[in-house]
Amino acid sequence: MIIDPRAAEAATEEFARSVALGLTDTPPWLHSRFLYDDEGSRLFEEICKQPEYYLTRAETEILKRCASRICDATGPVALIELGSGNSVKTDHLLSAYAAAESSVRYVPVDVSGGILQRARDTIVERHPTVTVTGIADTYERAFPLFKEFSPAMVVFLGSSIGNFDQRESDVFWQGVSDALAPCDFVLLGIDLVKDESILHAAYNDAAGVTAKFTKNLFARINRELGASIDLGAIEHVARYNAAWCRIEIYARFLKSQDVYLQPLDRTITVPKDTMVMTEISRKYDLDKMKDYLRCFDFAVKEVFTDDKQWFGLLLLQRLA
Ligand code: AVJ
Repeated sequence: MIIDPRAAEAATEEFARSVALGLTDTPPWLHSRFLYDDEGSRLFEEICKQPEYYLTRAETEILKRCASRICDATGPVALIELGSGNSVKTDHLLSAYAAAESSVRYVPVDVSGGILQRARDTIVERHPTVTVTGIADTYERAFPLFKEFSPAMVVFLGSSIGNFDQRESDVFWQGVSDALAPCDFVLLGIDLVKDESILHAAYNDAAGVTAKFTKNLFARINRELGASIDLGAIEHVARYNAAWCRIEIYARFLKSQDVYLQPLDRTITVPKDTMVMTEISRKYDLDKMKDYLRCFDFAVKEVFTDDKQWFGLLLLQRLA
């Protein structure tokens, strides 16, 4: 079953409003959530296969090694995965839970309905004892459903949390904390601070897939909002901001362009040399993160890392 509560026009209108808001702001930005339409999700999967993008491999290594320990630590829980994408990494967890319990509920939440459907088909085939209830919506709109699935573990992998700025992160953790029942769990994947050259390479892959991913956001504005942005005059820029411990990704406009937003019947002029921020990817320090999560009533039960200590997987428990 896939729950897709939003009307298509409402989603398009919301996209148009967000684009208008971001492009008229100083400095301009676009919300990273909109990177993941079906094409964007496909490109992100391709990013994960690039040799420079170590995050997915490091996290998969940890999951393979630690899935059964995680399962032992939580006991029977429904797995609620935020931003599940193709659910490939989660397969290691599902295998461990399916081996330990007679039935398992898996609740993937993803804004891309297409990828959710495909992931569901694959999982049901691979794990006959897993019941899948997909939610095609934003994380926040799925929060009110969490208590129905308790005892539960929210699974938030891939350092997707790194896309949130400080304020968004605070709102997110308060939301998760309120949505869960006492003693429920969270499994959180975070990318750790490391040498700048490694970080830089991961977001500037030689094959140019990350650049395509950034440009797809503007292709999506053309497709869904009736704009005619010249994609050849947009450049992907990814740099590490060491003071803020984050990669910042921008689209640089190589010439001035008029962006027409059909649902709003409105044109926004983006001047030459404008840097439109499309996403941030924060890098974390384990100790600071533990202190931060404690502010939202989460205790860190276990910390798993890969051999190089490049990536961290944290098992958290909501305090009573
Ligand atoms: C899915 C947010 C974890 O920040 O590494 C990868 C997204 N963007 N390359 C990340 C992304 C460009 C990714 N997250």
